[in-house]
Amino acid sequence: MNTYATVVLAAGKGTRMRSKLPKVLHPLAGLPLLAHVLNAVEAIPSTLSSISQDTSVSTQKPVVVLGHEAKQIEAAFGERCLYALQEEQLGTGHAVLAAQATIDALSPLPQTVLVCYGDTPLVSSKMLATVLYEHITQQATITFLTAITEQGSDFGRVVRDSQERVREIVEMKRATPEQKRIKEVNSGVYCFNREWLWETLHALPRNSSGEYYLTDLVGIAGAQERVITSVNGTLDETIGINDRVQLAAAEQLLRGRILERHMYAGVTIVDPATTYVDDSVSIGMDTVILPGTSITGKTTIGGECRIGPNAIIDASTIGERCIIQGSVIEEAVLEDEVRVGPFSHCRPGAHLAHGVRMGNFGEVKNSYIGAETDIHHFSYLGDATVGEHVNIGAGAITSNFDGKQKHPTTIGDGASIGSDTILIAPVTVGEHAYTGSGAVVNRDVPPYALVVGVPARVLRMLQPSETTNVESDKKE
Ligand code: UD1
Ligand code: CA
Repeated sequence: MNTYATVVLAAGKGTRMRSKLPKVLHPLAGLPLLAHVLNAVEAIPSTLSSISQDTSVSTQKPVVVLGHEAKQIEAAFGERCLYALQEEQLGTGHAVLAAQATIDALSPLPQTVLVCYGDTPLVSSKMLATVLYEHITQQATITFLTAITEQGSDFGRVVRDSQERVREIVEMKRATPEQKRIKEVNSGVYCFNREWLWETLHALPRNSSGEYYLTDLVGIAGAQERVITSVNGTLDETIGINDRVQLAAAEQLLRGRILERHMYAGVTIVDPATTYVDDSVSIGMDTVILPGTSITGKTTIGGECRIGPNAIIDASTIGERCIIQGSVIEEAVLEDEVRVGPFSHCRPGAHLAHGVRMGNFGEVKNSYIGAETDIHHFSYLGDATVGEHVNIGAGAITSNFDGKQKHPTTIGDGASIGSDTILIAPVTVGEHAYTGSGAVVNRDVPPYALVVGVPARVLRMLQPSETTNVESDKKE
């Protein structure tokens, strides 16, 4: 059994982001940068077992090195990681050393220390597992990930000798003009032999930049003729986020990958350039996503839906065969065959049962709307429980807030709420009751009553044949 521990460096100030928010908490495709790195780190053991049947590893929680805004980052990730504090940011080598006590307290004691950076969020578990695998099988002192760059990036350059052996990594700041032209760069993922790592880091001098660079360990291992191996990865995966331009570039890459995953799984994305889908979203087969649509948070969408154009959906559950046009759906549940839009808003706690049709300019908040109910024009339903086959007329609203408190409204099955009715909560409208246009309902309405006026009063009782027949509707 091979044992390893992971150190993720996240103590830097992230000065180039020019932000109050710590760099590793900046969101990328809906998740903080550091969460992407942790996802990849946590998937290493299962990925490694798919690379090699013979190489098994024991894993431990990653150790995240924090400095700036440590408390805020720790609060965001809680028990998911172990934390080490780097009080003063004296460089990446110094940062790894800050994790020594935490790592040496792990049981079993790891043979290998895998180091990656919290600002390199696109690195995949496959890449990390490959570096680890190479390190284990080569019994190397250092194994690190490189990439080939065409344009002038600010990554450290990998210097090799005439026999292609790695000699050192030179940071751009300190590179000679000739070294600056080297296309092979350091991606910032390393495996080290743990004992050698501590011994060498303790002896590492500050370099001419006044910092302790982790990358200088490569030169030291080279001079000691130790085994240094490298794995060549793609540049895309190793994009480092130092500023917001790089953040946007990573966002574009990651979004592209997410959309491709959905397309390969049977989702039509009409215009990938204007479609934004978070990593946490799942979408069923044969759903069509139309332009200008943004789907974020923990959202699940069933199959055969038509979403958009211009739909905004966050943290919601959408059933099968739903149609959502130009509307905003937040923390809501839509069962199968619901139709929303154009221009409607389902706010948190909205639950639209099977077949609900919610039309132009509707708003529903914290309410259950029963199956096959129609809310077609200019309505507001808040804190309401609405039955099946109800018709909510144009401009009808629940007046749920008395200035101090919210109050509930209940509407029974088959009721019909006339245009411009105001339901002053708390109030109940019985099954199959009707309210006339413009009624202001401030008292409960019995089942089958027709109420009209301001304040509403019972005009007469309705015959069942005059009202919506819920049972026969259901059979249609
Ligand atoms: C680093 C590498 C460079 C590589 C690039 C890849 C070094 C010296 N250079 O450069 O070779 O091409 O990453 O992305 O390692 N950090 C701390 N404590 C510190 C300093 C940094 O925790 O004292 C953390 C930062 O928060 C960051 C990571 O280490 O997450 C990398 O530091 P950064 O300053 O971004 O290094 P780069 O200049 O990008
Ligand atoms: Ca960086």
